[in-house]
Amino acid sequence: MKNKKQHKNSSKTIDTLLIENRKFKPKDSFKKQANVRNADIYKTARKNPVKFWEKMASELVWKKKWEKGLIWKAPDARWFDGGKLNVTESCLDQHITNGNRNKAALIWEGEPGDKRTFTYYDIYRDVNKFANALKSLGVKKGDRVAIYLPMIPEIMISMLACARIGAIHSVVFGGFSPESLKDRINDSQVKLLITADGGYRKGQVIPLKHDADVALADCPSIEHVVVVNRGGFLLRFKEGRDHWYHELLEKADSFCKPTYMDSEDPLFILYTSGTTGKPKGIMHTCGGYLTGVYATTKYVFDLKNDDVFWCTADCGWVTGHSYIVYGPMANGATQVMYEGTPNYPDKNRFWKIVEEHGVSVFYTAPTAIRTFMYWGREYPDGCDLSSLRLLGTVGEPINPEAWIWYNEVIGHKNCPIVDTWWQTETGHILITPLPGLTTTKPGSATFAFPGIEAAILDENGNEIKNGGGFLAIKTPWPGMLRGIWGDRERYVETYWTKWKDIYFPGDGAKIDSEKYLWILGRVDDVINISGHRISTMEVESALVEHESVTEAAVVGSPHKIKGECMVAFVTTLKSKKSESELAKILTDFVSHKIGAIARPEKIIFTPDLPKTRSGKIMRRLLKDIASGKVLGDTTTLADPNVLSKIKSKYED
Ligand code: WT7
Repeated sequence: MKNKKQHKNSSKTIDTLLIENRKFKPKDSFKKQANVRNADIYKTARKNPVKFWEKMASELVWKKKWEKGLIWKAPDARWFDGGKLNVTESCLDQHITNGNRNKAALIWEGEPGDKRTFTYYDIYRDVNKFANALKSLGVKKGDRVAIYLPMIPEIMISMLACARIGAIHSVVFGGFSPESLKDRINDSQVKLLITADGGYRKGQVIPLKHDADVALADCPSIEHVVVVNRGGFLLRFKEGRDHWYHELLEKADSFCKPTYMDSEDPLFILYTSGTTGKPKGIMHTCGGYLTGVYATTKYVFDLKNDDVFWCTADCGWVTGHSYIVYGPMANGATQVMYEGTPNYPDKNRFWKIVEEHGVSVFYTAPTAIRTFMYWGREYPDGCDLSSLRLLGTVGEPINPEAWIWYNEVIGHKNCPIVDTWWQTETGHILITPLPGLTTTKPGSATFAFPGIEAAILDENGNEIKNGGGFLAIKTPWPGMLRGIWGDRERYVETYWTKWKDIYFPGDGAKIDSEKYLWILGRVDDVINISGHRISTMEVESALVEHESVTEAAVVGSPHKIKGECMVAFVTTLKSKKSESELAKILTDFVSHKIGAIARPEKIIFTPDLPKTRSGKIMRRLLKDIASGKVLGDTTTLADPNVLSKIKSKYED
């Protein structure tokens, strides 16, 4: 990798600094068996994207076929207009009669080591019973139901039970505080809450019902609470309001007639974890969303009947909605679900799960991969990972070094890696390799999925053919958000005003001479140094390539001459060198890697970085520190104590 001097661009785009030239072709053995083997799929889909998506939709179960594939009046889309369906018929009913009835749908492990396996018939029965129970508690089509559960099978059963009766679920991540739960319940006037007595994380019990009770003191719309008995933890019941899940199931009928929904009826609301501002209730609908997650699961994860798929996300995030609940279930997959953390009781827990259940397709986040790298390869090396055949990542740009480690240490150079770009708002994967077709480059999410039109635009909407700018999605796609709950204006303002009728995801990206797309992170994380617009992600990626660095976050700080300068917050391995020696080594290293313009002005060594509970670094707060501002909202931080340590270090 060599430095490359960039010319200054007149319109407001982003300079690109990091050059990565390694390429990885899919192996013949993989290609031969892949679900997509013919590159014509791109051409066909480009010619008529709506027809492509209609073909995918036709593989699902519909009560009544749609009349029109797409009605598009920007920024409002109606997909499969006039169609009627209940998504649980694709996810469950069809598998009861197509030979999958006794197939394992879910292989679950609790953190303490307890195990449960559900066949498709088991899940089908519980979903039907629980749907009837919800009905008996007065839940009707269109009502909102909040789900605040640990990663136990009941989280999937609850989501599908809501879908069965047309109730809109709003899953709130079990790690969120009572305050966050309360805000989300009140924002969409939730009628019923499903929670558990507790859940296990890091060997400890998270007291969900207790936290829920704190929240519910201030949630007037809640009529009933259903409590799953996870561990027999002692708790208080409110007479008339609270009900045991298992008691409701015992009493309920085992068949619940599905409520047929218009394709465009809402399926769920999910509040974005968001690193900025008040959470947005992102709304998704039935027909389009199911089509999008079904198609991408099938083609990106290449699922086969005997695969064992493990997506390590929590159902509290969109990844869990799309690639644990709806996509894999509509494909009739066998999945692994795990309740706890990767280092309980030891740092090899994930790899033991892969070994024990023969996981073949594994999907996780770059932040997890970097943690595994930091822990050391002895943990995966001590387990048999030979069942793996395909690896995926999602959530943030993956730095090439982590990609290479993932490929070598986890994939044993035998598994294609799919780096999948998408958002809560997009519903499903939009930019990704197709594992049997695409030659990958470490750090690039490669190309738009068939039927998706992505481009890099400048501020004025001109297309950039080679270089950096803003990521844009130019045409509608089936799983796109249909709005923000209760806030039309914010929907239009956030996504649809930068350019005319083109979706703005808020990410910076670059395109190279071979048309590969490289996501550069949120545009809020782009800084302007002497007129050069630089993505802090590229500087971070260069920093973590240094052997002593485990994690890095780079933010802008006001500078008298340059406008802005860069401050790097870095966590390192133990070193004999002093901080000032190490700082010099790292600045030189970055200069050498990507150019002097990208040299951090200041490097702060810190034992930890502020992260959201989904593992995203909250650069906004570091920026506040580096600009000497009062700290913004810290309520979504996983560990608020980290900040004061960094702050005092910075002010030293
Ligand atoms: C943001 C969306 C999509 C499920 C999890 C996150 C970043 C996501 C990638 C990727 C680079 C990525 C983007 C995006 N992101 N995937 N493969 N490469 N960046 O969902 O919380 O809605 O976050 O995550 O910045 O906009 P989310």
